[in-house]
Amino acid sequence: MDKAQKQIIDINMEENRRSEIRKIFDRTPMYNLSALEIDGRKIRVSKNHWVIDFASCNYLGLDLDPEMDDDVSSNIKKWGVHPSWCRLVASPEIYDELERKLAELIGTETTLILPTVTLISIGVIPALMGKSGVMFLDKSAHETMYEAGKIARDSGAELESYKQDDFATLEDLLIKHKNNPRKLIIVDGVYSMTGDYADLPKLVELAKKYDAMVYVDDAHGFGVVGEKPDERNPQGYKGNGVVKYYGMSYDNIIYVGGCSKAYSSLAAFIGCTNEMKKFLEAFATPYDLSGPCPTASLATMLKGLEINEKRGDEYREKLWKLTERAIDGIRKLGFTVINKTGFPIVSVVIGDTDKLIDTANILYEKGILVTVAPFPMVKRGEECHRITLTSANTEQEVDQLIGAFAEIKKYLEK
Ligand SMILES: Cc1ncc(COP(=O)(O)O)c(C=O)c1O
Repeated sequence: MDKAQKQIIDINMEENRRSEIRKIFDRTPMYNLSALEIDGRKIRVSKNHWVIDFASCNYLGLDLDPEMDDDVSSNIKKWGVHPSWCRLVASPEIYDELERKLAELIGTETTLILPTVTLISIGVIPALMGKSGVMFLDKSAHETMYEAGKIARDSGAELESYKQDDFATLEDLLIKHKNNPRKLIIVDGVYSMTGDYADLPKLVELAKKYDAMVYVDDAHGFGVVGEKPDERNPQGYKGNGVVKYYGMSYDNIIYVGGCSKAYSSLAAFIGCTNEMKKFLEAFATPYDLSGPCPTASLATMLKGLEINEKRGDEYREKLWKLTERAIDGIRKLGFTVINKTGFPIVSVVIGDTDKLIDTANILYEKGILVTVAPFPMVKRGEECHRITLTSANTEQEVDQLIGAFAEIKKYLEK
């Protein structure tokens, strides 16, 4: 390695807390796996070792749905694999159909598709804030929105933050900036480590009081949570997102849905008014500076919406039951399991980096793949294994997961 590279890496390793993640690479096989073969939710990771996937966010199992294939390949024949115009110049008409169907599903006037939620955040948040807007960032919101906030701040916008659900502090900040006409509260719809839902009724009440907008990143919620929750499915129906879950309108809300999780596709969208869409087409830089979604992603999404209409609620009911089984089983072993909502993100607290790695290695040995979350992915003391479930998992797989945690318990009690 040349000297310039070495200096860059070495100094960053010393000054940046992300070095903790890099150091773990050498201590566990649970990162950077090569998937050699898959069989349902089982993945072969070496010659004879298989692990059950509890790290995927393909919540509806659409990645494995046999109905996908034909439609995806016929669209590729029609459009080529990647008509790579930036969206400002031209888009295959499949976009129009998809944007209309997404708007129908979530109940906004229109939607605007871009490749990822990350790109949307770093394009849309600075566009909304301009040179002097003010952002109120929930400290538990996804890191990508903090990055977006820093880009906006670089152009002159102000970045304030408050603790999740600390509405008194949020209100004080809104009062402090009440004369600023561009105010944006920034939250996750469903929080990516805890599965908590943003308290949108309260946030929107405050937003209306002080003439602010709420930017809701529903990367996880879209496809899983939806309207009219009841006992049979406390996550609600149709998977039309967290705003519908609360039965709210989109007044004072910019809704961002992700397709890379429940819909197994590289795409994301903004749910908004027609006027806002036109504004973003001119102001959000990924619309003209980035490439578009590959055809396969758009076709997967279209087919996914069709499957969602036919069988989505069945998948969500199964997902809810599997999640409940996992939470109950692991809690009964005595672990602290972070999950208040029944959302299929189940974080099991280990609380120390060394133990986290040792227990990750036990899970791997027992044939389980999870997302290992050390500091700085989570706060110190909250180091955890993040389990995500999908409707393509089985009860037997969940029982194997619980069995692996029983082994971890024995190790921790030694
Ligand atoms: C809350 C949240 N927002 C954004 C993202 C990034 O989404 P995308 O892959 O579409 O950029 C994630 C992914 O983990 C997420 O959890």
